[in-house]
Amino acid sequence: MRETQAIIERVRRVNETHQQLDLAVDPSLMQLKPGQFLLARVGDDWTPYLREPWWCVSMGKDTLTFERPATSHYEPGQVVNLLGAVGQPFRFRRALRNVLLLVYETEPAPLLSMIPSLLTARVSVTVVLLGNAALYTTSHLPPEVEVISGDADMNWSNRVTTVGWADQVFVVVPQADELGHFSRIWDLFTQLRAEIPSGYLFGVFRPLLPCGTGACSSCMVRTKNDNLLACTQGPTFDLTRVLLG
Ligand code: FES
Repeated sequence: MRETQAIIERVRRVNETHQQLDLAVDPSLMQLKPGQFLLARVGDDWTPYLREPWWCVSMGKDTLTFERPATSHYEPGQVVNLLGAVGQPFRFRRALRNVLLLVYETEPAPLLSMIPSLLTARVSVTVVLLGNAALYTTSHLPPEVEVISGDADMNWSNRVTTVGWADQVFVVVPQADELGHFSRIWDLFTQLRAEIPSGYLFGVFRPLLPCGTGACSSCMVRTKNDNLLACTQGPTFDLTRVLLG
C-alpha cells in the first residue's frame, strides 16, 4: 500500500447524477484489479476528514477512470492524494458465463470496475438497479451490458430467471445498515433458489475506513469462522460465510 499523487486530466458528466475523472496516476497503480479501490483526498482542506473510497471504473493506457457523484466539483489539473490499492480483487469462478450485478438503493460504482474485463472474457453481464439506484441512467455503459430496473421491494421482471441463470452475483447496498440490507438480499435469494452455494452470492462491504491498512480494526466483518477486515481481506465477502443476524 502506497501513498501517491495523481493529476486529474479530464472531467466529464456521464449522466444526471455522476461524472467520470481520468487521472494520470503513479505507474504502480496500473496494477489495480477489479474489486480493489483507492482512498482519496483532494486539495489541502481535506474535507471530509476521512479519505473517500474511489472506485476505478475503467483503465486506459496510463490513466485510471473514477466515477464520482456529480455534486462534487473537480477540475483538470487538480492534484489527488491516493492511498492504495486497498482490498482484494473480486474472486471469479473459472468457468464463468453469466454475472449478475445487483445495486440496491445506492450507486453502482463499486461493481462497474469488473465490467470491462468480464466483457473481454466474453462473460455476459446483467446489472439490476433497484429502488433509487434506478435513477442512475446507463447509456454510457457498453451496449453488451443488460440493464434491468426494479423497485425498492426488490421486484424486477423475470426475477427467478435472472437469479437462476447467474453463475455469480455481486451486490452493493447502502452503507447505513449494511448488514440489515445484506440480510434482506439473503432472504430474497433463499426464496428464489433451492440453495445458495458458496462462491455464488457476494456482498461488497463499505464501512468507514479510518486507516485502510488493517491497523484500527474498525472495519471488521463477522463471519462464521473469523472476524475479517474489510480493508485488507474484503471488501467483497461471500455472504454464505458472513454472520448476517
Ligand atoms: S480501516 Fe482500519 S483496519 Fe480497516
